Order: sequence, then C-alpha cells, then structure tokens
Amino acid sequence: MDVTRSRAWDTLTRYTQSEPLRRHALAVEASVGGYARRFGEDEEFWRAVALLHGFDYELHPTLDKHPQDGASILREEGWPEEVVEAVLSHAEHLAIPRDTRLKKTLFACDELSGFVHACGLVRPDGIATLEPKSVRKKLKQPSFAAGVHRDEVYRGAEELGIDLDEHISNVIESMRPIAAELGLRG
Ligand SMILES: [Fe+2]
Repeated sequence: MDVTRSRAWDTLTRYTQSEPLRRHALAVEASVGGYARRFGEDEEFWRAVALLHGFDYELHPTLDKHPQDGASILREEGWPEEVVEAVLSHAEHLAIPRDTRLKKTLFACDELSGFVHACGLVRPDGIATLEPKSVRKKLKQPSFAAGVHRDEVYRGAEELGIDLDEHISNVIESMRPIAAELGLRG
C-alpha cells in the first residue's frame, strides 16, 4: 500500500473520535513533518507515522494493550512493517530500539508537542508568542500538565541530538500554522 498522510488520517479517525486525541495526533504530525523537511526525509511517510502513533489509544487506553494490540490492526489494514515498527517504537514500555531518525524524531516530538499544546492553552495568544524559555520554566513545574513525562521530553531531545531550546523552538514553529485546528487562540 502507498503510505500517505490521507490514508493515515482515515485510519486514525476511524478509531479515534476524541477531539483532544485527534488534535494531539495533528500536533505530533506537524512537528514530525517539520523535521522531515529539515532533514530532507520523506515527509509524507513521516507524517503518516506521526498521525498513526496513537491511533488505537481510544480503543486501548492501557499500556498492556497500547500500542501493541494496535499493531495487529495496522498489519491487517496492510500498513507496511516499517510503519508498524516506528509506531511501536514510541512506547517506552516496549523497549524497542529507536534506531532510525524517524523513530528518534517521533519519540522526541510526542511528549513535547503535547506539552507545548498545554502551554498554548493557558496563554491568551496560544503559541503565537510562546518561547522556549517559558516552556522550559513550565517543564520544571511538576503540577503543570502533570501527565507529560518530563524525562521523555529531555531524553527525546538528547537522542535526537538537538539542543533542547532549539527542539522546543522547532516544535512551536511547526505547530503555529495549525494553531486554530489545535484549538489554540491567536
Ligand atoms: Fe502521543
């Protein structure tokens, strides 16, 4: 099958009705897509993987099933193994080596996109003027967006080999054009 963004969106939205989960998928897609462009990689493929990374979360909200049981669904739908493996690799509990740039990028963008999104939701202009410094400050407040694993944010940037401030700034920049779709003001 052709790995396209639009096929991935179709699979995602068949299994995910929740608006916040769809928005999260879009935020991660934007961030990963931005890196694909920067790295000169296959943007369509990378975007598809990003959209699919949590497609089964609504169906399998617990880590004994997500994302491993989702993988069977992807295989049944005919998604190639490269997509399935990249999706699986974002889950820390599966301990799959992140041995490609796509896997490293997905992991680095997943929690951080969620966190930047959360930062934007409490600002009057969303992420329009959000800066890395203020994101870093919020990362140090454990009660803010408490569900975001800080260690994964820091490790993600490290594994990707990009300075944290630069990584935050790249993610913000990638998410800005779709701020309205993400439910952010500004
Ligand atoms: Fe995610």
